[in-house]
Amino acid sequence: MLVVRSTSWLLKTRTNPITLLRQRICAEAPQPTTAAFTVGNVREKWKARFQTENIPEADTSILNILAHVLRLPSPADVRKSQDVVLNETQLVKVDELCECRLARMPIQYIIREWEFRDLTLKMVPPVFIPRPETEELVELILQQIPQKPMNFLEIGCGSGAVALSILKHAPQASGIAIDQSKLACELTLENARSLGLSENLRIFRHKVTDTLPEEIKERKFDMIVSNPPYVPSQQLLQLEPEIKVYEDMRALDGGPDGLTVIKAILEIAGRHLNVEGILWLEVDSSHPPLIEQFLEDKGPTLGLKYVCSYKDLFRKERFVEVSKV
Ligand SMILES: C[S@@+](CC[C@H](N)C(=O)[O-])C[C@H]1O[C@@H](n2cnc3c(N)ncnc32)[C@H](O)[C@@H]1O
Repeated sequence: MLVVRSTSWLLKTRTNPITLLRQRICAEAPQPTTAAFTVGNVREKWKARFQTENIPEADTSILNILAHVLRLPSPADVRKSQDVVLNETQLVKVDELCECRLARMPIQYIIREWEFRDLTLKMVPPVFIPRPETEELVELILQQIPQKPMNFLEIGCGSGAVALSILKHAPQASGIAIDQSKLACELTLENARSLGLSENLRIFRHKVTDTLPEEIKERKFDMIVSNPPYVPSQQLLQLEPEIKVYEDMRALDGGPDGLTVIKAILEIAGRHLNVEGILWLEVDSSHPPLIEQFLEDKGPTLGLKYVCSYKDLFRKERFVEVSKV
């Protein structure tokens, strides 16, 4: 509280009394306390605000924003820096980014990068944000991929998460990535360059219906991989605002039964896989029996055999392996 006591001391001095009064007032006024702007306080303030406004993952959101603004290696480091005081520029930045979170922007777009396995990928809206279950798909692939020269095709590369993970861990592999979205193709290229993985990757903008781009329409592959759009169209409206408002719906919309792009990919796999080549798909948990049935009917014509499906960490059948016979 600001306190001005007796002014009698003004009369005993030759200094400008107004100046002295100001000095006195300033000296007695409470100084702004930097303690209010420690990492710990800012974290608590925004966590509470996010919770009040029903923002999902309130604490994780502010931890990621603080780590980004303070240039800390990870959100876990924020917990170790509770007493660090933020400067004005940092405070303004935190407020700005938190406002984006209040508008339900995904944290990955707010901080413009995200970890996928051991890769740090640049994220740009509305290019699809890679999900943790896709890390499991990559794990399955890497367990089986031969450590010898091989070529693969990724259909729907998004930010490049899958293709770049494969190239990093199978340095003898070479890949072609395609996506219907220009922004996704540009982002995959940018991520490939910043990770030093662009040499063995070619990228084409192309919308898969049942053909591949002109430049590769004669090519055969040892492996085709895709995490295609597989959400049934009528379910799209039920998605969280983070997805519905900010991500490219073409990355999610799998048509009436979620299988439109999957069936197109199966047709392509039939024509473009080498014998014994493998197609890996990430799908909705309702899809494996439908894909199995589809291949029982059309598999002999396509030269494809349903191998099996694999469960994700939540015990749901989410990954399908198909082989070329
Ligand atoms: C679910 S996202 C997967 C992105 C990335 N592979 C990942 O796992 O993070 C599907 C991607 O497929 C692309 N896509 C959707 N339909 C396509 C089509 N018909 N042809 C080519 N790409 C398509 C979308 O633009 C999107 O980038």
